Amino acid sequence: MSNPSEAEVIELPRPKAPAPGRKTRARRVIAVGGGKGGIGKSLLSANLGIALAKRGAKVVLVDLDLGGANLHTCLGVGQPKVTLSDFIDRRVQNLEDVLIPTPFERLSLVSGAMDGLDAANPRHSQKTKLIRNLRMFDVDYVLLDLGAGTAFNVLDFFLVADTGVVVMLPEPTSIENAYRFIKAAFFRRLQSLAPEDDFAHLVGQALAPRDGQLGRTPWDVVAELRTRDPEKAARLEQALGGFHPWVIVNQARTRADFDVGPTVASAWKKFFGLELGYLGAVNHDDAVWQAVRARRSLLDAFPDSAAASGVLRVAENLIALER
Ligand SMILES: Nc1ncnc2c1ncn2[C@@H]1O[C@H](COP(=O)(O)OP(=O)(O)OP(=O)(O)O)[C@@H](O)[C@H]1O
Ligand SMILES: [Mg+2]
Repeated sequence: MSNPSEAEVIELPRPKAPAPGRKTRARRVIAVGGGKGGIGKSLLSANLGIALAKRGAKVVLVDLDLGGANLHTCLGVGQPKVTLSDFIDRRVQNLEDVLIPTPFERLSLVSGAMDGLDAANPRHSQKTKLIRNLRMFDVDYVLLDLGAGTAFNVLDFFLVADTGVVVMLPEPTSIENAYRFIKAAFFRRLQSLAPEDDFAHLVGQALAPRDGQLGRTPWDVVAELRTRDPEKAARLEQALGGFHPWVIVNQARTRADFDVGPTVASAWKKFFGLELGYLGAVNHDDAVWQAVRARRSLLDAFPDSAAASGVLRVAENLIALER
């Protein structure tokens, strides 16, 4: 799954305000990920980007599916001439240089890397530079469309975002994949924030019940640590507090499907003691594949479809997170 450069831990803490004399920073970075391929990450990223831009926000969409970029197609944009590869391989100096306009006012795109194995698996230094630069766009939202799976590359992009969104389908297999993705991101975060503390091991042991014992939550580990090592307990508490992913259920068909999100969130809270938010559900809708086949975005081609309404609701909920 990983190579040595991928396994290197990415620095997570990030300044919120621009340093004096520096450029402004993106107000909010949102990453859209999920355990599996083909669940609607790109569809949702593209159309959430459009929805936010239509609401008056300046938005940059970034295709970080480094192995299988296709976000431009979900937006109805033809094969771009400049892509992330040009930045990763240093053919251009700034990430702004690979920004391309879209048919939508206030919405630009950084198209995904198209060529080279190198781009699909950037070196640690390339990834760090990319992450640093992603925050520098002077816009309201930077939306990151992630690749499938739980490779460290994907998890690191998920973790640097202010808001991590996990897409799942209302099916047991997809729900399991989403849990797996969130757990992998959680442990990667623990490892990244305090590598010397070995929190991932401590918490991992607590979560796995042994010999009829009840599983403990990460908060139980904080409580146990507090008596022995209060500073370490405080570091773990801080790491846990900042982990708050959000779920979107895509391809909902039945009434019960619309209840899956809240159920998954409360199960996560019960078993892991951690917060998982719910941003809403998007209907399964023929309009989606019809728009894809017409190489147009859903919101543009079928603005009155049930799926488009779902996307708009989710966009409103995303905006409401900041209020
Ligand atoms: N709400 C929906 N209703 C109907 N079909 C959908 C819906 N969402 C996604 N699809 C179908 O699933 C396909 C894959 O969606 P998308 O490309 O967004 O997935 P992805 O998670 O980005 O996949 P990958 O990980 O391969 O990039 C779409 O082309 C569409 O045909
Ligand atoms: Mg995709």
